[in-house]
Amino acid sequence: SNPERERLLQAYEWTSKFFHYLLKNTEHGKPAMDYLRSRGFSDKMIDQFQIGYAPESWNTLVQFLTKRSFDLEEMEKGGLLSTRSDGTGFIDRFRDRVMFPISDRNGRVIAFGGRVLGDGQPKYLNSPESKLFNKSRTLYNLHQAKSSIRKLRQIVLFEGYGDTISAWEAGVHNGVATMGTSLTESHVSMMKTMADEILICFDGDRAGQSSAMKNIPLLESAGIRIKIAILSDGLDPDDFVRKYGSERFMSQIIDGAVSTTKFKLIYLKKNHILLEEDGKISYLKEVLPIIAALSSSTEREVYLRELSSEHQLSYESLKQDCNLIRQTMQ
Ligand code: GTP
Ligand code: MN
Ligand code: MN
Ligand code: MN
Ligand code: MN
Repeated sequence: SNPERERLLQAYEWTSKFFHYLLKNTEHGKPAMDYLRSRGFSDKMIDQFQIGYAPESWNTLVQFLTKRSFDLEEMEKGGLLSTRSDGTGFIDRFRDRVMFPISDRNGRVIAFGGRVLGDGQPKYLNSPESKLFNKSRTLYNLHQAKSSIRKLRQIVLFEGYGDTISAWEAGVHNGVATMGTSLTESHVSMMKTMADEILICFDGDRAGQSSAMKNIPLLESAGIRIKIAILSDGLDPDDFVRKYGSERFMSQIIDGAVSTTKFKLIYLKKNHILLEEDGKISYLKEVLPIIAALSSSTEREVYLRELSSEHQLSYESLKQDCNLIRQTMQ
């Protein structure tokens, strides 16, 4: 094994316990605790996800790590500390932030995501890539979700920490998050070894929905089945659980997840004014090729019948157009 790696893992483990302790048991942690409570995080989830607090101080962690004989330069390279701007030493990297430990698949802490208490920038400060942390190969919460994932052969994929945690409390124990980054080939091949189906549950804002749209080909080409949860009004999964409760989240959002084709129809609809003929026609021009590309004629019929009743068009003429498109596709 690699001794520098082991020391860094040790430091992350100590630091994560220290931050969790500061959050739960000290006056310094109280504003962070109040913030988490105001957002609806329960004590149970704070413990289960080992949420912590990095104090508003330049040297609390420096002192903590020094006392435990860690090499500060090594800790800086590992992403726990920063160098002073005049180069005369080290300071804490994370200050006055709620800390979400990020673990590897074996449950060892390898990084942090640190959130400001409120509206500051950047909203999240993450650990940099290090000997331990490779963002494009890491999925938040995989260590706790993996047994449920293997049992269900399904992964629920979220964008963020709060979504994963709220959904866990609502009953989704096979949820992981990409932490804002786009899904990579390594994420996909990792997921493929554990599951047959991915349920994408991204934020209900434009960014989230378009990133769901963008990830479909990557997952499809890997041969993974996909379902997509439909969130709207800009709500993310965390917001939805807080606003409407766990039961409605499970029944409406998770159980109500749709096929990629259905998702594309819903997604594209938002770009057209369907009350006007032009809008309806340009919508159909985008949608019919998607349906035409489906290899199963039953599936094509299902979506064409839906379109037909939704837009008061005859099934026969839709089918005819669809077949014309299919001919040009061969
Ligand atoms: P909350 O406002 O705390 O509910 O955050 P969120 O998780 O809803 O954030 P958002 O939907 O904006 O982003 C999704 C995920 O992207 C977050 O959970 C983070 O992992 C990541 N992210 C968001 N903002 C930043 C940022 O400013 N810096 C970095 N490094 N990551 C970010
Ligand atoms: Mn605890
Ligand atoms: Mn988002
Ligand atoms: Mn979000
Ligand atoms: Mn959120």
